[in-house]
Amino acid sequence: MGWPYIGETLKLYTENPNSFFSNREKRYGEIFKTHILGCPCVMISSPKLAKIVLVSQSHMFKPTYPPSKEKMIGPEAVFFHQGPYHSHLKKLIQSSFLPSAIKGSVSQIEDIVLRLLLTWEHSNTINTLREMKKYAFEVAMLSVFGNKLESEIEGIRDLYQCLEKGYNSMPLDLPGTPFNKAMKARKGLNQKLRRMIEKRKEKSGGEGLLEALLSNEEEGKIKLNESQIADNIIGVIFAAHDTTASVLTWLLKYLHDNPHLLHDVKREQEEIRRKRLEANRRITWDDTRQMPLSTRVIQETLRAASILSFTYREAVEDVEMEGYLIPKGWKVLPLFRSIHYSAEFFPHPHKFDPSRFEVAPRPNTYMPFGNGAHSCPGSELAKLEMLVFLHHLTITFQWEVIGEDGVQYGPFPVPRDGLPIKVYPAKC
Ligand code: HEM
Repeated sequence: MGWPYIGETLKLYTENPNSFFSNREKRYGEIFKTHILGCPCVMISSPKLAKIVLVSQSHMFKPTYPPSKEKMIGPEAVFFHQGPYHSHLKKLIQSSFLPSAIKGSVSQIEDIVLRLLLTWEHSNTINTLREMKKYAFEVAMLSVFGNKLESEIEGIRDLYQCLEKGYNSMPLDLPGTPFNKAMKARKGLNQKLRRMIEKRKEKSGGEGLLEALLSNEEEGKIKLNESQIADNIIGVIFAAHDTTASVLTWLLKYLHDNPHLLHDVKREQEEIRRKRLEANRRITWDDTRQMPLSTRVIQETLRAASILSFTYREAVEDVEMEGYLIPKGWKVLPLFRSIHYSAEFFPHPHKFDPSRFEVAPRPNTYMPFGNGAHSCPGSELAKLEMLVFLHHLTITFQWEVIGEDGVQYGPFPVPRDGLPIKVYPAKC
């Protein structure tokens, strides 16, 4: 359980997560206890036990977040709930991110990619993570608010950035602290979103998740009030943004480190470009379904990067598991990363090998987007975003990593210094 109060928190956040988990797993097996962020925790690293927590007995394990984070995102956001409110919201959010709902935004996503890549042409050095954050943020804004730009959007962008800066800071609510600034930005966001909601109620024909949450209000099923809508809009931007940007940064790193794969991905993408040019058209949803190798590279990136190393739940009562007692109130952490790095399910787990996905992974062993009631509703959008980006990146540029190898945590694991690169025009 480590030191009093701090437990093993420092080790977890400073050690390589692969060795933190695997050292303990070797010593104690696939279920063991520790102490993180002031809470006693049980870590589990087998697909069978993770399924019990996330799927079959999920009612015994509620989602749990530090109170400061809940306050900052908004307590009515989907992540923090269970039961009828959660499933109602989840259906609404999911309906905005199903393939049928996002198919129509491929051209708009492509526009965002093209605008971003244009700025790369005259850049000397590019910080990949920073650029991917810009991209993922624009796509998140598009999917939440639609393509019709409203005057509030710019203000929302600035306030959101301030909120993000304070999110991982110490929760010290004193004047001038990042946390305090973030909480002020959160209040500002609420006001702006409320004004947008008022305006949208007066007009019809709006787009995006905001419209889905509002139109449900009109139908009068379970009426969502304004703060429920605002908390979920902020929550979805939050969930969509850093995650996708971090995975995209790893995608560039892995392709750079595996030139033979990059060569084959580029060939696949050149073929799509040839077809597009022949028909004089832009990239379509159907094109993105014709990219088998690029899709496998993305699947393997999600496994190898495992940016969400684990998730948190809390036992709502005493639970017995594999002969161990998990006391009520203890946190339970299914370790996605350990499962993704198990040689039993992913042979030679440290090798970046997209061909392993030529065969579907065994059930409950591949969970980059989680599992069960709280699994990610944005997985299709995230994959689409990555494919459209990969298409234009590989046909336009080649890139060279100029930083040193290494990983940093912010809070997701990302290549050191955000992966600085130099880009050159692609050779045909
Ligand atoms: C590659 C990018 C992404 C990764 C790796 C990822 C991963 C995850 C994971 C593992 C969970 C489950 C967390 C848990 O069980 O506690 C989750 C939940 C969630 N994700 Fe994503 N996500 C990504 C992108 C997105 C995008 C683009 C959206 C936008 C719609 C999104 C929205 C959400 C939401 C709203 C939840 C909470 C669902 C719930 O509590 O029912 N994510 N994500």
